Amino acid sequence: MCGIVAYIGNREAYPIVMKGLRRLEYRGYDSAGIALIDKELLVYKCKGKVDDLEYFIGTQNTLGNIGIGHTRWATHGVPNDVNAHPHYSQAKDLTIIHNGIIENYNAIKKALTLRGHTFTSDTDTEVLIHLIEDIRNNAKVDLVEAVRLALNEAVGAYAIVILSKDNPNQLIAARKSSPLVIGIGVDEFFCASDATPIIEYTKNVVYLNDEEIAVINRGEELKIITTKNIAKTPYVQELELNIEAIEKGGYEHFMLKEIFEQPRSIRDSIRGRVLVDQGLIKLGGITEYSQKIVNAKRIIIIGCGTSWHAGLVGEYLIEDLARIPVEVEYASEFRYRNPIINEDDVVIAISQSGETADTLAAIELAKSKGALVYGICNVAGSSIARTTHAGSYTHAGPEIGVASTKAFTAQVAILTAFALSVAKQRGTINESRYQQLLIELDTVPELVEKVLLQSDKTKAIAAIMKDAPNSLYLGRGYSFPVALEGALKLKEISYIHAEGYPAAEMKHGPIALIDEEMPVVVIATKGANYEKVVSNIQEVKARKGIIIAVVTEGDEHAALLADYIIEIPESDECLVPIISVVPLQLLSYYIAVMRGCNVDQPRNLAKSVTVE
Ligand code: AGP
Ligand code: GLU
Repeated sequence: MCGIVAYIGNREAYPIVMKGLRRLEYRGYDSAGIALIDKELLVYKCKGKVDDLEYFIGTQNTLGNIGIGHTRWATHGVPNDVNAHPHYSQAKDLTIIHNGIIENYNAIKKALTLRGHTFTSDTDTEVLIHLIEDIRNNAKVDLVEAVRLALNEAVGAYAIVILSKDNPNQLIAARKSSPLVIGIGVDEFFCASDATPIIEYTKNVVYLNDEEIAVINRGEELKIITTKNIAKTPYVQELELNIEAIEKGGYEHFMLKEIFEQPRSIRDSIRGRVLVDQGLIKLGGITEYSQKIVNAKRIIIIGCGTSWHAGLVGEYLIEDLARIPVEVEYASEFRYRNPIINEDDVVIAISQSGETADTLAAIELAKSKGALVYGICNVAGSSIARTTHAGSYTHAGPEIGVASTKAFTAQVAILTAFALSVAKQRGTINESRYQQLLIELDTVPELVEKVLLQSDKTKAIAAIMKDAPNSLYLGRGYSFPVALEGALKLKEISYIHAEGYPAAEMKHGPIALIDEEMPVVVIATKGANYEKVVSNIQEVKARKGIIIAVVTEGDEHAALLADYIIEIPESDECLVPIISVVPLQLLSYYIAVMRGCNVDQPRNLAKSVTVE
């Protein structure tokens, strides 16, 4: 999610903004930039870290008591110097920094190009500042009104701050879906993505709400209007958090923060793609290949670790809904086993980092055999994003915890949308079920929100499991990959040996492990295999195993059988994976914390395995 910092007051802006950007580094980013006014508009920006920006600036002029700074997490346009923020308007009298995504930037860019605008970057952000300029110049309105009108035209998410060369006494900030905090000091104001860069100067903050515009004028009271031009009284709050806590957004670990970010990250992954009001799904990244995908004889899904588990959910979704044969392959195995790859195969490569060496190599192999490769990645401009023929970004925001959580649910959300879209085009799903699933998929963020509300119950169960040397995770059908993912989460951050297994397979060996020491986590939600899973639970109970069951809320039958239950809201079976994985993520997190493990950087693990 990158970062925004801005300052206006009586002090030198440069040190405040640069220090603020460093405080936001934990959020993850790929480039940085700053704009200041010292008689003229000074803009410095580059790919890389804040240190690289500071080195790039060197001894250049950094004077001025107004400034804006940005750390970018690229979504539109690869990470490079040109795409870094701040971005200029056409006349270079305005500059903007932006967190978020302007979904309709392409249409706006085309219209502005026809009106003589020229663009230097590939970003959606540059389009926004040109739109603001175009409106100001043609509607003959002031800058604040131009910002308001432009934000009514833009579709998507934004936290922005705008600086005008002609008005060094004003900052204009606005937000929708991306956070923005205004700090109120003595004759000075601060803007930032969170309170981290602000708290050392003032505890008085205003959290902007969606579709609010803050007009910050030197020497005046803070003014807030909505994008519908309604004046709002700023609600000033006093910060209670300390710096340390805020750096993780108030969470003890990045992993916990990212688990709790999932309602937003899942929403962001389907934003502009699952269009309930139009009754359709639009995966823009693969439109030009839709015929090849619809006519594919086979789909091969490749990935590693958690991404491979997401691929397994994808197999169940695509075969169940779109009726195309799917094979899921560990990228590391696929690349070396001399696989058969045909030109009418479609390969889906899944990767959070977009840099996993085995996945990259498997992609190159598939491309060399003439297959179409569709990438599902979380990092814009990453190697995998650049090498695949087509792609969809998961837009989950930077995932800093080594154990993947929000990336997995975002990957599965996109795979669900993909399967639904292809099923619709192939006519393998009837209209009513298609519309029902489309509507239900759009409610998944709220269902995940409900699961997160009972995290304390999951924490209590973690205390039961934390000293077990081993654990077994069982699931059937759509829940089998979730069992694998839950076991991986436990293994990689708590160092307890855990194994995910198809529930029915337990009888073919692992049942020998069951005793009163063995916690067995079972995903036993309502669905086609429910009765069979209940039988598996009874088989475990008969051998004195401890059953922790993830069940559909209100399922009293399962509650009677299990030793402990975690309830999740009812949903269509094909949507259960995104929801049922959340309690398993929390379970592994709490167990790891109770065991004193380094949750965010588990031993021996890297966030991105860029080597074989
Ligand atoms: C997941 O929790 C692990 N950190 C790991 O298995 C990861 O999923 C795997 O290395 C693949 O990474 P990628 O998604 O970035 O390609
Ligand atoms: N969408 C903008 C870009 O790609 C902003 C990304 C961000 O939030 O940093 O430059």
